[in-house]
Amino acid sequence: MGKTINELQSEVDKRRTFAIISHPDAGKTTLTEKLLLFGGAIRLAGSVKARKASKHATSDWMEIEKQRGISVTSSVMQFDYKGHRINILDTPGHQDFSEDTYRTLTAADSAVMLIDVAKGVEAQTIKLFQVCAKRGIPIFTFVNKLDREGRSPFDLMEEIEQVLGIRSVPMNWPIGSGRELCGVYDRMKNQVELFQGDDHSSIEVQKVEDYNDPVIREMAGEFYHDQLCQDLELLDVAGDPFDFEKVLKGELTPVFFGSAVNNFGVQTFLENFLQLAPKPEPRRSTEGLVQPTDENFSGYVFKIQANMNPAHRDRIAFLRIVSGKFERGMTVKHIRAGKDIKLSQPQQFLAQDRDIVQEAYPGDIIGLFDPGIFRIGDSLSQSGNIIFDELPTFSPELFAKVTVKNALKHKQFQKGIDQLTEEGTIQVFRTVSFDEMILGVVGQLQFEVFEYRMKGEYGVDVQLQRMPYQFARWIVDDKIDPSKFRINSTLVKDKKDNYVVLFENEYAMRTAVDKNPTAKFLEMAP
Ligand code: G4P
Repeated sequence: MGKTINELQSEVDKRRTFAIISHPDAGKTTLTEKLLLFGGAIRLAGSVKARKASKHATSDWMEIEKQRGISVTSSVMQFDYKGHRINILDTPGHQDFSEDTYRTLTAADSAVMLIDVAKGVEAQTIKLFQVCAKRGIPIFTFVNKLDREGRSPFDLMEEIEQVLGIRSVPMNWPIGSGRELCGVYDRMKNQVELFQGDDHSSIEVQKVEDYNDPVIREMAGEFYHDQLCQDLELLDVAGDPFDFEKVLKGELTPVFFGSAVNNFGVQTFLENFLQLAPKPEPRRSTEGLVQPTDENFSGYVFKIQANMNPAHRDRIAFLRIVSGKFERGMTVKHIRAGKDIKLSQPQQFLAQDRDIVQEAYPGDIIGLFDPGIFRIGDSLSQSGNIIFDELPTFSPELFAKVTVKNALKHKQFQKGIDQLTEEGTIQVFRTVSFDEMILGVVGQLQFEVFEYRMKGEYGVDVQLQRMPYQFARWIVDDKIDPSKFRINSTLVKDKKDNYVVLFENEYAMRTAVDKNPTAKFLEMAP
């Protein structure tokens, strides 16, 4: 028994499960690929990129994904590096991201925020950051494309604080910039990492006393050394000191500068990250906090991926392991369904192919074959009735009225809506005044997936009519007066009969908040 506990503890200790959050084009695919190369999970540079761009050949890849060459649903990549086992939760980089992207973040213990040095904090980064910040998970920042002309590091730090409301502490600092970039100074280790050769193909690492060390002057030249000293003196006096506790609470983000495509600063980043990032964290449940080292295997479903190929209409439920050891073929309790199920065909998501997993540990993600028995948020446990906290519902930002084209198909239409809502593909609302059905999503792609699946799986052609609303707020009030929500807004109910107001713009929302001081307007369902 003792051996099992030790084994479990050491497997937990070596794991890191994180998501990379960024705006499209910041370099997430490139960074992921470099990380996988370090871990030996892929051998060829270009594999991940090729996957991103290719018309996926495997039969079980979603049809829309094939057509558009983008990742509709997030996937998981696992690799080993210097004694660590790393799980990267991939979030779709395309603008058409979906609620799945947000849900995936709930399975991560930390996040890496990737920022383009020239563009700074962009729209999609802000949204993803906010979901992470709400959970209070540690966030590490990698400022990418340092080989290009960009904004000054001070400028970026200020933007991170102003826009995201988090303090930052640079772990390294660029020496020169853009085409004149010579390298970086590592503030924690007191060393310089300099580009070598015209094509910056190799990197020289040199230990120094501190940033005033004349060795840097020799290597980088007077001009850049003076600038480095000035910047770092200012940082030493006016910047935030490194505070590990604050990092863990998500109050301070360590910032690394580098260039993913040139593989510059990536390895240093990875090594620092592995040292600082938390191992698998406990999760809240009806039985209190469930610790990863609890021997009783448990986990929860955070995503369900439907197969769009009519020949393989299976689904995969993504399970985040919270505690204990998973062994292939084990029988566990499906708490909501109140029955025992055997986990015989679990899939693991490696860098390239799906593999049958024999065993897995807390922090790992496994894919369970789903004949339609799982819902998002379901808890599985080897023993006891552990029910993990419900996953949040995210506020939709795009809305469309949905109707069925052929009224005779109404029954199938309703069935499809019910099942796809249950699965979390879309959120559905009903207007209080006319009982019309409105779909709410966080990304346009969800509408397309919805239309496609309604036709493919339920044989129903639907009509979607976009509506001008941009915000949804769940309203909690003793007395709700629908007549108050007529101008640039509408009152609807969600599937649990909670009242929700949809607003056309921020002004309408602010006015409603001001005019209803006793009501609470919530971004998520109460
Ligand atoms: P994404 O997944 O976040 O959308 O970004 P991706 O890695 O695909 O990178 C977007 C573009 O930025 C790519 O160029 C990529 O090569 C480039 N890039 C990534 N890291 C760096 C960097 O450190 N420096 C510079 N200068 N560029 C970088 P592309 O032209 O769109 O594609 P490709 O022709 O390079 O394949």
